[in-house]
Amino acid sequence: MNKSVRKAVIAGNWKMNKTPKEAKELLSAAAPLVKDADCEVIACVPFVDLQTAIETTQGTNIKIGAENCHWAESGAFTGEISAVMLKEMGVEYVVLGHSERRQYFGETDETVNKRTKAALASGLKPIVCVGELLWERDCNITEEVIARQIKLDLWDVTEEELKNVIIAYEPVWAIGTGKTATAEQAQEVCAFIRKTLAQLYTPAAAQGVTIQYGGSMNDSNADELLSKEDVDGGLIGGASLVAEKFVAIVKAASK
Ligand code: 13P
Repeated sequence: MNKSVRKAVIAGNWKMNKTPKEAKELLSAAAPLVKDADCEVIACVPFVDLQTAIETTQGTNIKIGAENCHWAESGAFTGEISAVMLKEMGVEYVVLGHSERRQYFGETDETVNKRTKAALASGLKPIVCVGELLWERDCNITEEVIARQIKLDLWDVTEEELKNVIIAYEPVWAIGTGKTATAEQAQEVCAFIRKTLAQLYTPAAAQGVTIQYGGSMNDSNADELLSKEDVDGGLIGGASLVAEKFVAIVKAASK
């Protein structure tokens, strides 16, 4: 992290976990423990938990995010939720292009780009996820894969809009596997993402972008990962479902 030039952000991605009642319990437990955090704290929760999450975190420093949004404002898209709908409820962030969406639900860089544009146009702050498969890492094409995702996912996003974008580097092989990237691997790719952003925009714009690491980040490895210059926070899956673990990661980012 380099807090002198950009915000540190710890975000939980609950995925398909927690009912509204459980969401209230978890957020009520976490909120008083992160009130002095020296980083932004976000919980990205299932659509059905959003209302409860917003109410439970009112007056606290936990911000609420959704886990996806559609690119159209409204229309015949059964089962989908638009960015405008989320914004009106008081949602501030939205996870886009998560590898589970890409892997199981046919998400492509084209649709991630459309969703990113729609989120920004509605005033939501997207957390855009990129990351390579193990096979791609083994074939030494990690940088090619990441550069392609960054270029396509952020196509037509202006430098002004980029100020509201968070990038999450999530190597697919590290998600939910207990296999964390080493701090050096995380730093290497996060720095590469910043270099790519500098080429696409300006070095100054790239310096201001928060780039998170995600993939089996937990209370025991957070310190080391966050000690790296270009790792500005974390997108936390499993460990965000347990208040003490999530709080410990927030504390690591607050140092
Ligand atoms: P885990 O922390 O469970 O590996 O999940 C990471 C992730 O996918 C966050 O979006």
